[in-house]
Amino acid sequence: MPKFTVTFMCSECGAESLRWAGQCPACHAWNTLQEFQVRKALSGRSRSISAQRGQAVEPTGARPVPLSEIEPDSAPRQPLAWGELNRVLGGGIVPGSLVLVGGEPGVGKSTLLMHAAQQIASSGGRVLYASGEESPQQIRLRAARLGPLSPRILLLAENDLDAICEAIRAESPRLAIVDSIQTVTDAGFEGGAGSVTQVRESAARLMRLAKEIGVPIFLVGHVTKEGAIAGPRVLEHIVDTVLYLEGDRRQELRILRATKNRFGSADEIGVFAMGEAGLEEVSDPSAALLGNAAVASPGAAVVAALEGTRPLLIEIQSLVNKVNNNYPPRRIASGMDINRLLMLIAVIEKRASVSLGQSDIFVNVAGGIRITEPAADLGLALAILSNTRDKPLPDGLVVIGELGLAGEVRRVGQLDRRLQEAARHGLTRALIPAGARAGRHAGLEIVEVRTLAEAISAAHLSHMRSGELIKEPEVSVP
Ligand code: TYD
Ligand code: MG
Repeated sequence: MPKFTVTFMCSECGAESLRWAGQCPACHAWNTLQEFQVRKALSGRSRSISAQRGQAVEPTGARPVPLSEIEPDSAPRQPLAWGELNRVLGGGIVPGSLVLVGGEPGVGKSTLLMHAAQQIASSGGRVLYASGEESPQQIRLRAARLGPLSPRILLLAENDLDAICEAIRAESPRLAIVDSIQTVTDAGFEGGAGSVTQVRESAARLMRLAKEIGVPIFLVGHVTKEGAIAGPRVLEHIVDTVLYLEGDRRQELRILRATKNRFGSADEIGVFAMGEAGLEEVSDPSAALLGNAAVASPGAAVVAALEGTRPLLIEIQSLVNKVNNNYPPRRIASGMDINRLLMLIAVIEKRASVSLGQSDIFVNVAGGIRITEPAADLGLALAILSNTRDKPLPDGLVVIGELGLAGEVRRVGQLDRRLQEAARHGLTRALIPAGARAGRHAGLEIVEVRTLAEAISAAHLSHMRSGELIKEPEVSVP
C-alpha cells in the first residue's frame, strides 16, 4: 500500500486546500471541497508533483539543449478517416497522448470513440477498448450499427485500473480507449469509482503509462450537471487534450470542441450528425444549419460566427411576448450567454427606444450550437426587433457585428472569411460594421452600418413606430 497524504480539492475549480472548509477559498462555491489522497513523494518534491500531475518527468541528469538542436516532432500523427476529427485533434492522434472526451451522458461519446476505433482498425491498427460502462454485448451491438466488426478491436470489460494498464501494456495497441474514467478504480486508493481521488489518480496513472509506452489513450469523462467533468476540473490539468462533445440529444448535430490541446489549436471544432448508423462528419456545417432555417419569419436572423478558424452561418431565433402581469419579464437564452442577452436588451431599449420591460424574451440558436462570439450581437438585436415588430428581416440577409453599449456597431475579426462563407451559401446582402474594409464577394451586396439605428433602417425595420405591433394576448381578467 502506498503512503498517502490527504488533501482537499474543489470539484468546481480544482483548487487544492489542506483543510476542509464549507466554501472553496478560491471560487467561493459551497460544499465542493472533497477529500482526496495523494501518493507521497518517491524522490524529491518537484518530481512527485509533476508525476502526480501526470506530466512527463525528465530523467535526472537532463541537460539544457539549444532550441535549434531539438528534433521536430519525431513520432508522426496517426490521422483518422474523418477530417472533422483530425482538425479537432490538431491533425491526428499523437502517440503517447492522453485525450479526454467529455460530454453529457447520452450525447454520443462512446459512439464517437467506437467510430475512431473502427477507423484505426480498418487502417490495420489494433485498438483496445476498455469499458466499465456497458456489457460486451451492448458494445458489440453499437459497433455493429456503425460498421463492420473488426477482429482488430479488442474489448476489455473491466473496471480495475491495474488490469486495464496491464492489458494496454501487453497489447501495445495503436489506440487505447477507457470508457469511462468514472467507472475505473485503482485498488491502491480508497474511495469508490468516480470519487475525486479515483478519477484523478487513475487519469494520472494512465498519463504516465501513455507517455512511457507511447500508446495514445482516450478517456471518456461524463460531465456533471454543473458542467465540470465529474471528478474535478483537475482532470483537465492532467490530460494533454480536452475535447467536449456538445449538442442537443434530441437534435442531430453534435459539435466536438477542443478546449485544451497541447498538440494543436485549442478552439477548433468538428461537426457531426447523429443518425441511424451512428455519427457522420459534417464538412459543410453552414449548409446543415441553414437547411433548417425558417424562411423569413419574424424574429429570425442569420449571423456569421467564427468557430476556431472556421466561419459558420447560424440562424438565431427570438420570440418577444408582451405579457400583462406583474411578474418580472422572463429572459431565456438557449445556445448563448444570458448576460450577453440582458446587455443587448438594455442596448436595444436605450438606443432603439423600444420598451421591452413588459415582454418575455426567448432566444434560441438553431441546431443546438452555442454562440460565444460578440460578432453575433447585431444579428441577435435585429432578430429581437424583428419579432417585436412582427416583421421578417429581408431574405438572404446576413448580419455581422458586435454591439457596444452606446449602440455602436463594432468591428469583428476575420470579416472576409465570414463574408466568403455567406456568399458561398447564396446569401445576397450583408450588414457589416462601418469602416471594416471588406473585400468583394460575388453576389453579396455589402452594407456598412455605424449604429444599431442604421442597422435597423438597413434591415427595413424602421418605418414603424417603436414599441408598436406587439400583439396583445387575449387575457380574461377575473
Ligand atoms: P452513446 O455513444 O452511448 O452516448 P454516451 O457514451 O455519450 O453516453 O450514444 C447514445 C445516444 O446516441 C443514444 O441516445 C442513441 C444515439 N445513437 C443513435 O442515434 N444512433 C446510433 O447509431 C447510435 C450508436 C447511437
Ligand atoms: Mg457511453
